[in-house]
Amino acid sequence: MKEKKLNELYREYRERYSNEQIVLGEGNPDAELLMIGEAPGKYEVELGKPFVGAAGKNLSHFLDLMNLRRESIFITNAIKYRLSQVNPKTGRLVNRPARSEEILENREYLLREIEIIKPFIIVTLGNVPLKAVTGDMSASVGEIHGRLLSFCLGNSNYCLFPLYHPASIIYNRNLSKTYEDDIMKLKTIYFA
Ligand code: URA
Repeated sequence: MKEKKLNELYREYRERYSNEQIVLGEGNPDAELLMIGEAPGKYEVELGKPFVGAAGKNLSHFLDLMNLRRESIFITNAIKYRLSQVNPKTGRLVNRPARSEEILENREYLLREIEIIKPFIIVTLGNVPLKAVTGDMSASVGEIHGRLLSFCLGNSNYCLFPLYHPASIIYNRNLSKTYEDDIMKLKTIYFA
């Protein structure tokens, strides 16, 4: 039933963004934990799967720390197509940040995805999915990471646990300890 609804949602999404390089969510639709990233990058588009590049490697490490297998959770992105632009110097396609209008436009699909999966806990990875889930364009992961919040959608209440984006530790090594502390908190909550 959930798979049928997800397929229908994804069919609509593909139709709406037919010019884009799309990577859809994957995993166990009955999962209790839903992880939401920002948008797929080059490697994700090549392999058609979320989080398979450098950020995905870090994410796998954190899932290992939690003793969680990827197949047991559901992983998706707030924006399901690559956000890219041409680098004028090299002529190559590079990733670009999401615009607020794009986050809000994609939010409609993300909220429907959440309502289909109905996870116990939603883990946002970075600012973009945090903004997308809450609808608050001023939300900042730096202020609320590692805290258990609640989020109401339709008639359901969800736990929301914001984490930094797993790529952030590539650029800022000082965040590794903070990230691991947050993961350990999440593990305690998830297995309680
Ligand atoms: N970063 C994301 O936010 N999502 C992906 O799927 C890959 C990298």
